[in-house]
Amino acid sequence: MKLIIASNNAHKVAEIKAILAPYFNSIQSLKDARLDIDVVEDGKTFAENALKKAREVLAVSDADAALSDDSGLEVDALFGAPGVYSARYAGEGHDDNANNEKLLQEMKDVPPDKRTCRFVSAVALARREKEPITAVGAVEGKLLYAPRGCGGFGYDPLFLYEPEGMTFAELSAAKKNEISHRACALNALREAMENERA
Ligand code: IMP
Repeated sequence: MKLIIASNNAHKVAEIKAILAPYFNSIQSLKDARLDIDVVEDGKTFAENALKKAREVLAVSDADAALSDDSGLEVDALFGAPGVYSARYAGEGHDDNANNEKLLQEMKDVPPDKRTCRFVSAVALARREKEPITAVGAVEGKLLYAPRGCGGFGYDPLFLYEPEGMTFAELSAAKKNEISHRACALNALREAMENERA
């Protein structure tokens, strides 16, 4: 079974490949498949966006299934922002650094005990002959006052994962793949696929 990952984010593709490799004969990213498709993420939820992306990519590819992830950071003190706008929090065309700076600025007066947040990931698997499957995963953390670590991407340097006392940018890639919001969502997806087969 051939899977295409509906993403151009190299970090996400690597995380997804590492987790789903045992379940597919071939896994390609959009780049591997030489597909250039830009799906407009205008859904109100992560799951809506993920399903839209997976369906649109499956429609233009020759794969048997398309998997997409839509993810972001929800900060309680900001009523769930940046949420589905995580990638473009500082505006279209701005990078991770600009998003992180804006978030730190918004949160500068928020005390430590009110800095709870979570990474959320919704994954969707669109298939040719069957109904799609969607699954959601989340991991809780605390937003720091300054970045720490140089691994990962996006908001990782600001996200303190308390069980390890490290930010996501300080964790090894292997550890992040084990406990991340995407890992939780992909594991739930894998379970749904296994239940279907049983
Ligand atoms: P998406 O590509 O539309 O799903 O946007 C995801 C955005 O959420 C990224 O650009 C990051 O800003 C943020 N994000 C999602 N997952 C992670 C993660 O694992 N670490 C850090 N930031 C993340």
